[in-house]
Amino acid sequence: MKAIAVYPGKPNSMHLEEVPEPKVSDIPDGRGVLVKVLRVGVDGTDKEINAAEYGEAPDGSDFLITGHESLGRIVEAGSNVPTSLKPGTLVVATVRRPGHSIYDRIGLQDMTTDDVYYERGINKRHGYLAEYYVEDAQYIVPLPESLSEVGVLLEPTTIAEKAINQALEIQRRLKVWKPQRAAVLGSGTVGLLATLALRVRNVEVTCLSLQEPPYRNSDLIEELGARYVSTKQTPIAEAAEKFGPFDIVLEATGFSPLVFEAAESLGKNGVLVLLSVTGGDRTAEINSDHINQGFVLGNKVMVGSVNASPDDFVSGVDDLIKATAIYPGWLEKLLTTPIDGLESYEEMLRELTENKDAIKVFVNVAEDSEKKAKRGDAGRAVATPA
Ligand code: BGC
Ligand code: ZN
Repeated sequence: MKAIAVYPGKPNSMHLEEVPEPKVSDIPDGRGVLVKVLRVGVDGTDKEINAAEYGEAPDGSDFLITGHESLGRIVEAGSNVPTSLKPGTLVVATVRRPGHSIYDRIGLQDMTTDDVYYERGINKRHGYLAEYYVEDAQYIVPLPESLSEVGVLLEPTTIAEKAINQALEIQRRLKVWKPQRAAVLGSGTVGLLATLALRVRNVEVTCLSLQEPPYRNSDLIEELGARYVSTKQTPIAEAAEKFGPFDIVLEATGFSPLVFEAAESLGKNGVLVLLSVTGGDRTAEINSDHINQGFVLGNKVMVGSVNASPDDFVSGVDDLIKATAIYPGWLEKLLTTPIDGLESYEEMLRELTENKDAIKVFVNVAEDSEKKAKRGDAGRAVATPA
């Protein structure tokens, strides 16, 4: 079968690779799930892997199959797979696999303390930009049919879910803390999905981003009943004065100096969650006394958050379902840039690196024939008189 792969360490090495089709029996103890890939989203991580900034091949391989934002349908399940995962079920696979630390051993590999982490499509494990993949049932998340169009957004959603779930978990220390006002920094895919996840929890959200409104992303933010603020017009500190105090701030811009502006603008007893994986070596001058004093006198928290736990995938599915009910059509609008087929990987890369207006670039790996069939059935049921 075909797959999109890179030679890790070699810049711009993305290519089509012919690899053997995986089999259910590749996974021991009847726990294998064979999945036909329908759609795979790409993001900055894929761009940086192709630039050879990071990413390693699995041991014994000279290439790494990329892609970590998946959506597919089960074609075959081993004898020990739970019945919630049967052929035809729409599924998303999680990304990180356990290493060796205590956290990995209790199923929280997103919290690993190991130096090496194993992530499908990113580090030492092949990803999902292929016709099929096989995986242990414990890493497969079922989705309802209603998410057959937008389910490819689950993995990026889980990044926001973990941020919020961690914030809630940390703030239990305050007994009565309930976030009322939030700031989301950045209006890329994660910023948009974080705003959504906060809005379905009825939090008042101010999303701050560079570009001046109106444009597609600011419209999308406002469609969620959130406020869009351009930092060109209103700096974070001023926005916090006007629209805060912010109980929770999520940083998802990729521009690390903003972390310290955000820290300065966080409300008392607030929590700032950092989500940007900043690979560079930028430095910044900061108001250290002011930030430090604010944190001490205000009992504030700053926490980093990477990847997502199984629970974050579960809450992510719940939020996508809520989103389709409360904001119908909104998630679809994030799927701005479809690419047809694995063989179009060059176009995929071009859109990913050059199209600044794209929200989500994703590959339509295969047509969803089941969805068509299901839609067809529904159509017939309506057309046939009782
Ligand atoms: C992925 C995460 C991953 C992180 C670090 C992100 O792009 O969505 O699942 O943990 O990169 O590799
Ligand atoms: Zn990602």
